[in-house]
Amino acid sequence: MRAIIGTDPEEAARRLAMGQLVALPTETVYGLGGNALNPRAVSGVFTAKNRPSFDPLILHQSSSERILAYAQQIPHEARRLAEALWPGPLTLVLPRVSSVPDLVTAGLDTVALRVPSHPLIREVLERVDFPVAAPSANPFGFVSPVTAAHVADQLGDRIDYILDGGTCRVGLESTIVGFAGGAPTVLRKGGTAVEDIESVLGRSVEVRTLSSSRPTAPGMLVSHYSPGIALTLVEVAAEAGTAERAVVRFGDANGAGGQHEYNLSVAGDLEEAARNLFTVLRRLAAGGYRSATVELVPERGLGRAINDRLRRASN
Ligand code: TXA
Ligand code: MG
Repeated sequence: MRAIIGTDPEEAARRLAMGQLVALPTETVYGLGGNALNPRAVSGVFTAKNRPSFDPLILHQSSSERILAYAQQIPHEARRLAEALWPGPLTLVLPRVSSVPDLVTAGLDTVALRVPSHPLIREVLERVDFPVAAPSANPFGFVSPVTAAHVADQLGDRIDYILDGGTCRVGLESTIVGFAGGAPTVLRKGGTAVEDIESVLGRSVEVRTLSSSRPTAPGMLVSHYSPGIALTLVEVAAEAGTAERAVVRFGDANGAGGQHEYNLSVAGDLEEAARNLFTVLRRLAAGGYRSATVELVPERGLGRAINDRLRRASN
């Protein structure tokens, strides 16, 4: 099988309804979608990704009302986040209803839910009467795809259709918030800044760090996002890049672009850096370098999620 690449949301919806696997553009990264209520489709998602079955999937639908139907005992603060930040790069982990297959949640009694904002996946979701389970459309452990070509390169022979929605606007996976014990905890830093969550709730929230990661949120596995070469993280890269060792910078204060120099954002813009991050990591892997020196970005806004991905990629 070789995936067809197209731009027709109706065809994507039709194929999903038949139980096929369809890669879908979201504002964060491309997802590998399947009908979440069809165990055969869900198990196909795990197989195509080589994903271990203990790592649960996120369900997607087009509105808060439609997606929250798969949760119960919804805390007031979860509703406030949904109202303020959906559609958008936020995933809420909530107690699940029994109609969600065990396979989707890896047997957990909670389920991860999201309303994405990309117009094409929204058109697909509006046309189907089930939630779409969609992990990032990369083989397990690798960098997430932000273009249809990235998906085709890595999974093109394992899925039926790739809906091409251009380059993902955010470029980082969604921020995941759980409510174990009732209080919000950020389980994965991502495309919604922690500051935005705190300003909606009017209070500070706990953020789970790299070292506190546990198998209940396997996206938090320390060595995820493998770029295939060794990365050294620094505050400021002193040396210029070479054919052996690339340099990735942020902002233009620290010297400018030679041939083996990459810059996440010359303007020093964290949103632009987020958008470029996974594409630059892929270029390093394709560029024949043995290693790379990478500058950390400021630890605020999307910078916290960028640094988190860099730390995982350097492990
Ligand atoms: O931006 C995104 O979230 C993208 C797009 C496609 O929506 N999806 C994505 O999915 O990043 P994935 O499967 O690569 O990451 C989902 C993460 C995993 O780390 C998983 O462990 C966690 O969500 N997760 C899912 N259900 C969970 C649950 N019930 N409790 C805790 N973590 C959960
Ligand atoms: Mg992923």
